[in-house]
Amino acid sequence: MLTRLLLITFAVLLGAPGQIAPEYDQPYRPQFHFSPRENWTNDPNGLVFFSGEYHLFFQYNPFGDEWGHMSWGHAVSRDLLHWDQRPVAIPEQDGIMIFTGSTVVDARNSSGFCTKPEGCMVAVYTGHTPPEGSRPALQTQNLAFSNDRGRTWTKYPGNPVLNLHMTDFRDPKVLWSEETGEWVMAVSLPNEHKVRFYTSPDLKHWTHTTDFGPEGATGGQWECPELFQLPLEGSTETRWVLKVGLNPGGLQGGSGEQYFVGRFNGRRFVNDNPATLQLWTDYGKDCYCALTFNGLPRTQSPVMIGWMDNWQYAAKLPTRPWRGQMTFPRSLSLRKTADGIRLIQQPYQGIERLQQKRLEATSGSDLDAVNQALRAQPLSGHSFRLRFEIQLGDAREAGVRMLANHGSFTLIGYDREAKKLFIDRRHSGVTGFSGDFPARIDAPLPLTADKLVLDVLVDRNSVEVFADNGRITCTMLVFPSSGANGIEFYANRTGRVSASVRSVESIWQVK
Ligand code: FRU
Repeated sequence: MLTRLLLITFAVLLGAPGQIAPEYDQPYRPQFHFSPRENWTNDPNGLVFFSGEYHLFFQYNPFGDEWGHMSWGHAVSRDLLHWDQRPVAIPEQDGIMIFTGSTVVDARNSSGFCTKPEGCMVAVYTGHTPPEGSRPALQTQNLAFSNDRGRTWTKYPGNPVLNLHMTDFRDPKVLWSEETGEWVMAVSLPNEHKVRFYTSPDLKHWTHTTDFGPEGATGGQWECPELFQLPLEGSTETRWVLKVGLNPGGLQGGSGEQYFVGRFNGRRFVNDNPATLQLWTDYGKDCYCALTFNGLPRTQSPVMIGWMDNWQYAAKLPTRPWRGQMTFPRSLSLRKTADGIRLIQQPYQGIERLQQKRLEATSGSDLDAVNQALRAQPLSGHSFRLRFEIQLGDAREAGVRMLANHGSFTLIGYDREAKKLFIDRRHSGVTGFSGDFPARIDAPLPLTADKLVLDVLVDRNSVEVFADNGRITCTMLVFPSSGANGIEFYANRTGRVSASVRSVESIWQVK
């Protein structure tokens, strides 16, 4: 049954991993993904590259591990891998919470806020005033600026810069339009399922241009709009992508994100596809409010980071003393496929600098022998990258059970007849904290060749699967028990596998 060829040899782990800093070494603590040292986080905010540093701001409650007192937390990185968490950047003040938004580099001092020749950082965020008595909540758009590379921030005394006197009007994404030489804002009207566009010469005065939507999926509220231009693989052409979060109304229940591919002239976004077409950024349950970096050097591919979570159960995750974490950074492009132009996401290549040599597939042996070899040399941790290729032969289903021990496992497989990739976390360990957590999700994956090729990032409490060279991604949280480090390939009927497993070292090592 489980015979046939599997290509594999071993290489010894090179270099002992350093010691993990105790404040980042609790059960389930991601080792190569960002999570705050303590307390609650949701959406990434204001991702920006400035003066050689990547800035990750994030929705943060400085006072606890539940949503509340929303402020912008802050972490800085020089390599997009190692993050240094800094003090809160923009705190809640006078009862006004600091909701999601973006940061731009104002290189020409259009705002008048900048005191240095290289310009300054300007954050554009939603100010959220909770309801009180008979007064409903209010959401407005606001500015804060920093002249010391994001270390300290001043709220603009003229705030708010946009006020429609609405309860739901949020999550501004601001960018510079080369085409029109103006700032552009994409901001959500959540209940109308619309993204509204504005332009501005100075970030302070905004003019409404057009609205996009409702199109595509229109469940729940539309949140966290994102607008970015991407290259088309193998050509000099580009297209614009408009990404929108839905909560609830995501493909797999709860929160999830869709995208539109089209043209944008600085004022209007025109969808290349029929308004009814639904395209999803991720087929898992746990990638939301993803944001791209502003200010990246032109030579670098656009990079996106999402909140690795779902509003269905975010408040119940069994992690402590933090709650919430980010996806691994993903490099983005667009690809022309038989179905049309689609978003491509790949793990940021820098991950290779964290990978250690562990186990590699280079020569032949059968599937049982590989599984045996994997058992004989178990990984010492739960943070690794697994890349494998299964020649399906006449297998109806094939895949891998991972994070396995004593009957618990996470299953990643391919159903040949349904032409679907699936992830099943119903037996992945701790799942009972929410009825919405146990799940088997799937993604359409017609295979052109007779093989399944997957790239999987596993980091203690998460699995990110990249299929068809980044056309399909599935992000899923899992909470395995501490000894669950088994990896086992399976195929019902024959299948041939080649695989490589590499430990990924912790970014939280004692310095
Ligand atoms: C999305 C979201 C945003 C809002 C933020 C508040 O997850 O609801 O729309 O700005 O979270 O924390």
